[in-house]
Amino acid sequence: MTHTATDTAPSPSNPAVGMPSSNKPPLHPGLADIVLSETRLSRVDGQRGELVLAGYAVEDIAPRVSFEAMIHLLWTGSLPDDAELAALRRALAERRILPGATVALLRKAAERRVHPMDTLNMATASLHLSTALSTSGEGPMQSVAPYDDTALRLLASMPLMVAAYERLCQGLEPLAPHPELGHAAQLLYLLHGEEPSDIQARALDTYLNTVIDHGANASTFTARVIISTDSDLVSAVVGALGALKGPLHGGAPGPALDMVFEIGEASRAEAYLRAKLARGERLMGFGHRVYRVRDPRAAVLEGAARDLYREGPQRELYELARQVEAAALRLLAEHKPERQLRTNVEFYTALVLHGLGLRSDLFTPLFALSRTAGWIGHAEEQRRERRLIRPRLWYVGPEPV
Ligand code: ACO
Repeated sequence: MTHTATDTAPSPSNPAVGMPSSNKPPLHPGLADIVLSETRLSRVDGQRGELVLAGYAVEDIAPRVSFEAMIHLLWTGSLPDDAELAALRRALAERRILPGATVALLRKAAERRVHPMDTLNMATASLHLSTALSTSGEGPMQSVAPYDDTALRLLASMPLMVAAYERLCQGLEPLAPHPELGHAAQLLYLLHGEEPSDIQARALDTYLNTVIDHGANASTFTARVIISTDSDLVSAVVGALGALKGPLHGGAPGPALDMVFEIGEASRAEAYLRAKLARGERLMGFGHRVYRVRDPRAAVLEGAARDLYREGPQRELYELARQVEAAALRLLAEHKPERQLRTNVEFYTALVLHGLGLRSDLFTPLFALSRTAGWIGHAEEQRRERRLIRPRLWYVGPEPV
């Protein structure tokens, strides 16, 4: 592959290269507002609070279809018919198997209680050991048009890694996949050892669909950068996992739930949150680089949480979370009136995943299991673009004497 960008030479597309330091170009900290490329996968409108996923508003599509259908939509541009959906389900089921070396690694990580995101990162990287993964496409299992074999293998095996690791940490043996369950129900079965109810499976499908893709977020950008170097899909997903781990990106829902638990009852919310802000701390689950109104994903997940908690013993937790949200919004408006800090996706993510019986350490790995489908879609778009991503930095160090 021939890349068109160069590392050092001035070029017509980038005339600033080699400019004297007096001609300092405008900087773009955090690359905010920089449009990297075109995408067919998702459109994020931060002013209007809209998220479009491959032609569908998130609130219309996420609560309605299975995660497998959502993958098909993202990767092919249309929802699957029955035969296509069945073929994708079969392709994923055939790949629900972990290499022996990956299972050995999970056991070692469980002994040492490694952070679940670091474990998922290592276990995903260990797929490089699998003889079935072949960049030439000549593994024992061939690609199933229109899907790439490595892409399917990543999506099928990463839930096994998360569930096996969780069980090993609890002193339990990993379970073999259930032959009949779809992706979301399968994951709950592999974690808990029993078939979930329809409401639980629906809640997880809705969650996975809601967070599948979201523009040029930090982890997606990371995946695109890696693929732009002509690297491989497993490396792109491993790099993206590293970016997703941080609390300013995918690592917020655990702390958001901890905050609700620490508050404990609605009457304590205001004093607790005020003290947190006075200490200069951030309220997890609020604020977003792009949204200036409520993150539309928060509304979808609030609905999923409402259904999930409707009859359960933890109904009070849902009510408490809503009151904490209201207090947080009031105080953030006082604290930073110019910023318009609103609820983001992580706040209700925490509630949904907790309601499905997951420990908070697993929230970010679950996010990753969905976003992997988005990363893969972006990797494919970036690969077709055949352009190395290579921004510049402005040198402010000493000049040679
Ligand atoms: N609580 C309190 N203050 C906040 C919050 C918050 N949640 N979010 C932003 N602010 C304040 C900052 O302290 C900062 O104040 P300053 O100008 O006095 O320094 C100002 O608002 C701007 O903050 P930035 O970090 O520049 O805003 P940015 O748009 O880059 O940040 C971010 C977005 C990182 C999500 C931020 O709002 C935050 O830290 N939120 C809490 C963590 C969180 O919920 N992360 C999940 C994001 S969703 C996702 O990635 C999937």
